[in-house]
This record gives sequence, structure tokens and C-alpha cells, in this order.
Amino acid sequence: MAYSAQDYSRLIGMAGFSDTLLNNHFTLYQGYVKNTNKLMETLAAMLKEDRTATPEYAELKRRMGFEFNGMRLHECYFSNLGGSGDAGKAPRLKARLTEDFGSLDAWEKDFRATGAMRGIGWVVLYQDNLTGRLFNQWINEHEAGHWAGCTIILVMDVFEHAFLTDYGLKRAAYIDAFFGSINWAVPEGRLK
Ligand SMILES: [Fe+2]
Repeated sequence: MAYSAQDYSRLIGMAGFSDTLLNNHFTLYQGYVKNTNKLMETLAAMLKEDRTATPEYAELKRRMGFEFNGMRLHECYFSNLGGSGDAGKAPRLKARLTEDFGSLDAWEKDFRATGAMRGIGWVVLYQDNLTGRLFNQWINEHEAGHWAGCTIILVMDVFEHAFLTDYGLKRAAYIDAFFGSINWAVPEGRLK
């Protein structure tokens, strides 16, 4: 079964994000979906042809994590945008964040600081499935740094393509725009 690219055109016109930036970002995302399908097909064919004990198979297997997570993280990111930035729409999550970080402000400070780190990657607010505890985590590229047994609650893309067109190197201004457009009902729904 092949993956289909989701349509996020509803985000066009969102405050703080130009149409050019969003359209380029959607195109980039579609590339991850295409490559995920292509890699899965190629790996399945190699398995059938008994070509698994090869460096090609090993490298493509490694590449899967990059393409699949590139697809899925973008889906989580676009899905949690398009809102008003009003955290009041996530009362359960707000309570849980306050419990784990001391206050909503303290959580936001940590999330923003994680996003302001040098380098390209993602910031993910995770919930530990075992304890319910919430953590902000840095993800390198797409595949490195994920926590086992945790659920993605909120995602922010901090690759340069996510902000350079509109903000140049002013990453903090992009993070402001991100916070202003979070659709808090979505992370609320992801919370266990
Ligand atoms: Fe991206």
C-alpha cells in the first residue's frame, strides 16, 4: 500500500507564512512521500530477489528512516498549524504541561530554546506512553533523536526552508509566527 501526500492548502493565507514559503514546503513534503513509496517498493523487490545481503540493501534500509520520518514529521507539523495560537483550546495539555514544567511559560521557554538551537532539525513535544510525562526534544535531520515509546504531541520544523524565505536568519521571528498559528486542538487530541 502506497502512502498518499496529504493536502495542506488550507494553510495558505496563514498569518506569518507567505504563500511562496508554504507552497515550496508542500512540494518538499511531497518529495518525502514519493521517496518513501519508492524506497519501500525497491526494498520489497530486493527481498523478493534475495538481494538483502548487499550494501545497497543496507543503505536503503538506513535511508528509510530519513524519508519516512521526513514524510510523517511534516504531516504532524502542517496538521498542528492553521490555528489561532490560543492554548486555551488545549485545556488537558495545558494542565499536563504545567504539571511537568512548572508552568505553561516554562514549557514554552524550553520549546522555543530548543528550536533556537544552532543546526537544522525539528523540535518535538513528546509524551512518554508509559508515564504520560511530557518532554521537548531536538530531532537531527528527520531520523535521529526520536524517543522510543513516546507519542508526538506538537512539532516545529526548524530546517531553514521552513523560515528562510520569510525571515532570513531571524529564526526567533519564525518561532513567534509558529506559536501564533498553532492549532491547539490538534496537540490536545494527540494527548493520551
Ligand atoms: Fe520542512
